[in-house]
Amino acid sequence: MHTDSVAGDGGDFVIQGDICWSTGPQTLEIKPDSFVVCKEGKSAGVFEKLPRQYAHLPLSQCHGKLIIPGLVDLHTHAPQFVNRGLGLDMELLDWLESHAFPEEVKYHNLAYACKAYHFFVEHLKHGPNTRILVYSTVHVPATMVLMDMLEKSGLVSMVGKINMDRNCPDGLREESAAASLDATRKWLDTCAARKNEYVNIKPILTPRFIPSCSDDLLRGLGALRHEFNLPVQSHLSENRKEVEWVKKLHPASEGYGAVYRDFDLLGSAHKDAAPTVMAHCVWSDEKEINLLSERGVFVAHCPQSNANLASGIAPVRRLLNAGVSVGLGSDVAGGTNCSIFRAMSDAIQASKLRRTLLNVDEKTLSLEEAFYLGTAGGGAFFGKVGMGYSGSFEPGSDFDALVVHDNALADPFHLSVRARLEQAINIYDNHLIEAKYVRGKLVKFSQ
Ligand code: GUN
Ligand code: FE
Repeated sequence: MHTDSVAGDGGDFVIQGDICWSTGPQTLEIKPDSFVVCKEGKSAGVFEKLPRQYAHLPLSQCHGKLIIPGLVDLHTHAPQFVNRGLGLDMELLDWLESHAFPEEVKYHNLAYACKAYHFFVEHLKHGPNTRILVYSTVHVPATMVLMDMLEKSGLVSMVGKINMDRNCPDGLREESAAASLDATRKWLDTCAARKNEYVNIKPILTPRFIPSCSDDLLRGLGALRHEFNLPVQSHLSENRKEVEWVKKLHPASEGYGAVYRDFDLLGSAHKDAAPTVMAHCVWSDEKEINLLSERGVFVAHCPQSNANLASGIAPVRRLLNAGVSVGLGSDVAGGTNCSIFRAMSDAIQASKLRRTLLNVDEKTLSLEEAFYLGTAGGGAFFGKVGMGYSGSFEPGSDFDALVVHDNALADPFHLSVRARLEQAINIYDNHLIEAKYVRGKLVKFSQ
């Protein structure tokens, strides 16, 4: 074996260890002491014996460590990172007014934005997530700062400048629908001009939620979406009072999800169209779930946020049964932890509470399913927007991988590989992440 170059410095390489990845929602592949090959930033597959053609590549020996795909966060708010853990005795609408909005106003100040976004990006680099969908604020200059920092971090991400022109404080409320659309177009033009620099990052259209967007704004964003073939991210059916409010704002509509659909902001029946991701869907009924399924919408399930803000417990089993694509989200600062390991653990816990408290005959989420949602489930969104499939070691998917130094936890007990994965998920300690690769490049290494 060659050892004169380092795995992850840009060339091809091999990692040897206890390899786990999902091949489907219920199927966890486990290959102890095997080899995963990275070729040109993509997985060339997992092998129990290293094929001769790869024998010359640099080998990273990780005996007794877990090798798993990078985790995917389908929903988070960068400006709220510094606000984590605050105001969690409130429900959504009061919390937005008293905590989220006042913090976001500050991002008009570029010096403040630089400082706060630096904390956020540094924190992410050291955690287990390799891909993220991020909201910034309404402010274009601060959004560009965040995008530049994320690009440099090596993580793969999409960032949305928020649109909001009503029901929010001065400093966040854009002057009019036209002003919001104009700022969005300028932002998209700036992103397009940086196309050569932006290898790891792309923009995503981000109407905050229905209560903060006028009809004119939603109509304009629907048109912009088509003009640029852009993906969309937003919030849907998170909290009961919010759902009631949307009913009052759009009394003629068939429901909350239908409002997005009527403005052409809810996925598409066409397979190749840029997809939409909706966070929460806690209160989505059968009709709304079917609408999400028909239009290929991804749902970002954010169990920690849903518990913190007393929003409820999302009907994940029903979404999955209806064929909806589901991934996991941290929803910082509704959620407190960025780690998608934590979201996996919470998703399982929430499914148990739902079954018991609602007395519903719904199977709880298994470890295999939660791991799938936080890896390949969310990773599929990036594949759909042309940023490479991730969250798996299937040949051809982007090589996003974690080396988890879990033997520090399990050593005396000789646990099975599956049990070690379960423990790593439920303990979700960033110190266990020894190395993190994104598209075959080393983003974090610590020993
Ligand atoms: N709905 C609209 N804005 C937000 C937000 O910032 N966080 C959460 N959790 N829900 C929202
Ligand atoms: Fe959110």
